[in-house]
Amino acid sequence: MSSVTVSVPAKVNLQLAVGGVRPDGFHELVSVFHAVSLYDEVTVTPADRLEVTCEGEGVGDVPLDHNNLAARAAILLADRLGREPNVGIHIRKGIPVAGGMAGGSADAAATLLACDTLWRGDTPRPMLRRLGAELGSDVPFSDLGGTAIGTGRGERLASVPTTARFHWVFALADGGLSTPAVYGECDRLRELAGEPVGPPAPRAELIAALRAGDAHALGANLVNDLQPAALSLRPALAATLAAGMAAGAVGSLVSGSGPTCAFLAPDRETAHLVAERLTDSGTCRAARVAFGAVPGARVLPRRVVP
Ligand code: C5P
Repeated sequence: MSSVTVSVPAKVNLQLAVGGVRPDGFHELVSVFHAVSLYDEVTVTPADRLEVTCEGEGVGDVPLDHNNLAARAAILLADRLGREPNVGIHIRKGIPVAGGMAGGSADAAATLLACDTLWRGDTPRPMLRRLGAELGSDVPFSDLGGTAIGTGRGERLASVPTTARFHWVFALADGGLSTPAVYGECDRLRELAGEPVGPPAPRAELIAALRAGDAHALGANLVNDLQPAALSLRPALAATLAAGMAAGAVGSLVSGSGPTCAFLAPDRETAHLVAERLTDSGTCRAARVAFGAVPGARVLPRRVVP
């Protein structure tokens, strides 16, 4: 086998309920993950040594050394399979870098699946997801896709079956936000407010809206506990959120730890209109239209080169 390519989607958290800090330093979460049609493609090819290359928007911010989550994924799987991680990993970015849409986690999930296919590891997918959880809280969901409730650090997943298609617009910001910095700011703001932090729980109205395919109800129930922290670190995002709502979105929130802002549209046509108006508003770098839910990581059929 000469090379394997895996396509993997971005995620948005429809709900991100952040509880207290656990003894391991992570926060107890309830996260309603939703996979959307912005994709990275990861190709692995046998090589003399492990090497990462990257193309696409914002790749200047992607580490190409062993700090890259994809490189760490190859090393982890090779170790489990008792072999050397000698592959070239090429990442084509379609997911905003450091944008709160799990781009790095997606690349890790894709690399696990691509390397396992290349090396004929035959590792069962649930086992790949367990390995993925060692790399990052969002990695198992990037493999699973669809819509799912994550608990624990976000890595314990239960799928929420839905047949509806939801239309989204993502407003991309200049520069990224560091996930640990946003969690840290969340802790700081909570300490200042002095309010007790209860255990996180899924919002019943949101799950009902998902099952019913009701975009208006879903839009009214989107919630991200990290949003105040992201806005505190990046106050300009408030204007982006307002511009998308004024343009006809039925719901908005900061995606994960940000700075990407997500807007739910009632239909495809409105999504394109919202994207156009967001671009014209000057409150974001670019706007992308996408839909969800989409499946998780999958091996692409081999391209026949003429
Ligand atoms: O697991 P992942 O590598 O994606 O987490 C990145 C950072 O986000 C962690 O180092 C931590 O600061 C924060 N985090 C957290 N609680 C979680 C998930 C992430 O505090 N449940």
